[in-house]
Amino acid sequence: MSFLLAIAVSVLAIFFDILLRLLKPKEVFCTGTRRVQQARQGRNILNHSTLEERAKPNERLVRVFEIENAFTTTDPTWHKEFVALVKTLLRTSDKDWKEHADFASDTIHQVVDTTSTQSTLELTVQALVFRLVIVKFFPDTPAPSMQDIHFITLQINSLWIASKYCNSGDSELVSAKMHLRKRIQQVFGSDTADGQNNPLNIILPAYETLWRIVLRTFLEVRFRSTITEREQYRILFRDFMDKPSKDSFEQQNESHASVHTVVTEALRLYPPTRRIYRDISGERVAIDIEHLHRDENVWGKNAFLFQPTRWATENGKENKRSYMPFGAGKFECPAKSTFGPMLIGILVGALLSGIDGKFELNGKEGIYVLNTRPLENGRQAYSQLGFGRRRDGDEGEAGLL
Ligand code: HEM
Repeated sequence: MSFLLAIAVSVLAIFFDILLRLLKPKEVFCTGTRRVQQARQGRNILNHSTLEERAKPNERLVRVFEIENAFTTTDPTWHKEFVALVKTLLRTSDKDWKEHADFASDTIHQVVDTTSTQSTLELTVQALVFRLVIVKFFPDTPAPSMQDIHFITLQINSLWIASKYCNSGDSELVSAKMHLRKRIQQVFGSDTADGQNNPLNIILPAYETLWRIVLRTFLEVRFRSTITEREQYRILFRDFMDKPSKDSFEQQNESHASVHTVVTEALRLYPPTRRIYRDISGERVAIDIEHLHRDENVWGKNAFLFQPTRWATENGKENKRSYMPFGAGKFECPAKSTFGPMLIGILVGALLSGIDGKFELNGKEGIYVLNTRPLENGRQAYSQLGFGRRRDGDEGEAGLL
């Protein structure tokens, strides 16, 4: 009897769920964007961009995160000051790098030591990246709890998605904004309504670009490489984490791979900023970075494959022109030359040391990750991907990662 009752309740719940979904107003994408898929044309636009042309498409970020930074301002003085502040914060000595590497490794070991059977890889990567961003950019802020981190990263994610829809000014969004504001205030002591002091001014450009590329680089290196490559990567990253510096970052092995080429290749295949937007004379233009990075006419037939060794030879003019994960021209990313790539190396190195051969990907998402070429680059692609300890012990003799 109680069994029948349970079935009836489940059926009713599903029915109401479907009904609610049908009644919910449909989200409407903002349309009318021209894609630019020629490198020369894209660079030309970026070289001549104005603050206004960039601020307009980023208004959605002001709407949901209330940010006031280089991406949203039309005030040249604040733009200059903000970029100068970021450049100062980005300065990192070899001693700092070592501290960051140790901090990242300790953090990931703490997480996996408490991982019994199942964890979500995305949440693990987000927590690691968020922690390091706080340590680097907000050194005076006490370490936030895991609950705070999960709450903030989750709210950022859903607000980011909501901001892409034209009709997302509804009550759900307003309440998500308020919750985020409150928690940011608790953790940082200043909140999202604080204009130029909004902590998200810094957190967003740093955290949002980093977690997705770190996740994908880790998946490529740890789970999608051949046994031989995996062992080579293990040694490269281990040596880099032992003594992180520009030299060890660029140190090539006999196959001409280095942590640098691994990161460069990951940024080619999975650019976190897939498109750079400008509003030019009333028209929205999207420079299609992801298309340029995967164009077979430029990168050859294996454009869709993850091959760090291609960087030993591929430095032709057209490759250079088409490659712009950090943008180009006037508003090129200040983290481009060293900080961004090296931090990705550190974070991936930490994940490799913690999620080693004793762990495996779970479920059908895990099988999917191993078999799709290339990985998906969408924000929500791997939200369900879990990992856990292997039931059969270690990965095997090869001393894999
Ligand atoms: C993998 C890491 C990163 C990637 C792929 C990346 C990507 C980009 C891109 C594509 C732009 C150009 C945007 C445009 O033209 O509209 C940009 C600009 C910028 N990025 Fe990054 N970024 C990364 C890391 C960081 C970090 C860690 C920070 C530190 C807060 C940062 C701060 C900035 C700032 C302030 C600008 C604006 C520069 C200006 O207006 O002159 N980025 N970034």
